[in-house]
Amino acid sequence: MIDLRSDTVTKPSAGMLTAMTSAPLGDDVYGEDPTVNQLEETVAGLLGHEAGLFTVTGSLANVLGVMSLVPRGGEVLCEASAHIVRAELGSHAAASGVTTRTWSASGLIDLEQIRALIAPDLGPYFVQTAAVSVENTHNFGGGAIQHAYDALADELDTRGIPLHLDGARLWNASVATGRPASAYASRAAAASVCLSKGLGAPVGSVLVGSADLIAEARVWRKRLGAGWRQAGVLAAAGLYALEHNIDRLAEDHANARVIAEVLADAAPGSVKPDQVETNIVVVDLSSTGKSVADVVAAAREAGVLISGVGATQLRVVTHLDAAAEDCRRAAAVLASIIS
Ligand SMILES: Cc1ncc(COP(=O)(O)O)c(C=O)c1O
Repeated sequence: MIDLRSDTVTKPSAGMLTAMTSAPLGDDVYGEDPTVNQLEETVAGLLGHEAGLFTVTGSLANVLGVMSLVPRGGEVLCEASAHIVRAELGSHAAASGVTTRTWSASGLIDLEQIRALIAPDLGPYFVQTAAVSVENTHNFGGGAIQHAYDALADELDTRGIPLHLDGARLWNASVATGRPASAYASRAAAASVCLSKGLGAPVGSVLVGSADLIAEARVWRKRLGAGWRQAGVLAAAGLYALEHNIDRLAEDHANARVIAEVLADAAPGSVKPDQVETNIVVVDLSSTGKSVADVVAAAREAGVLISGVGATQLRVVTHLDAAAEDCRRAAAVLASIIS
């Protein structure tokens, strides 16, 4: 099977497993796991922040990050297909009492819409916007890079509204643009990054922010039952991933572009290859007359796993465990199904 459902499906390599089994360990709830401490310091340094907090998932890092910026009953603005509203099962409402309002722009920043949505402090009658959250790259937006990121950050600085960055795939944005991850993350008051997506670690994300924000998030992580003990065994995989697997993301981006080009030839209008900037290809089946369920099933039958992500949309994601040859084969299989 060639599994292109997500970049989360990778398995730890032999080198990563060796790093995991040889890591020095301690009890992280006491702050005594040297490998966790090293990971948190390393990621905070890479992202231009004072401190970091290792979490079991990106969703938890997002919950803690948004919660640290938005009071109970307060509002965060985000795009309508953002992971925090579409794929975290209402956790920001359920766990933190945070409400959301959304703009709609295929995952991208739309400054005009955001300006129109921002709710000022009008007294104890209207909800006030406490933060804006942006995903970079954007998962359901086809791995799109946020090119208006600085313009939004400038606008929010002027208004004194903090920015939350869901940087699950910030490494991809950084490699694709050649811009250091810190140039993005340092503009946000709280930013999360994943180690278990393109970077190939089995588990883990890191939330970064000021020392005070991270100290408070650490309390909430424990309160939510997600403090952990000898987590260095997992942090070691993250450190290994940071050292070995960032630059190679360019290969995933090239593979995604090849898939996009093959599919655009097979079913014109289904994909715009020049909009595939990183490792995610969203394929729109509207013009093909095929259903998402049928294409997913036929692809599985032919040895290729992909996911349906909307009424007419499929998602194909390239990653560390899918070599160029696998991606070319998968593209040929999908092309024959949708053409
Ligand atoms: C953009 C984005 N943010 C956050 C997450 C959440 O990560 P996790 O699955 O580790 O909770 C994902 C997962 O796919 C994601 O794509």
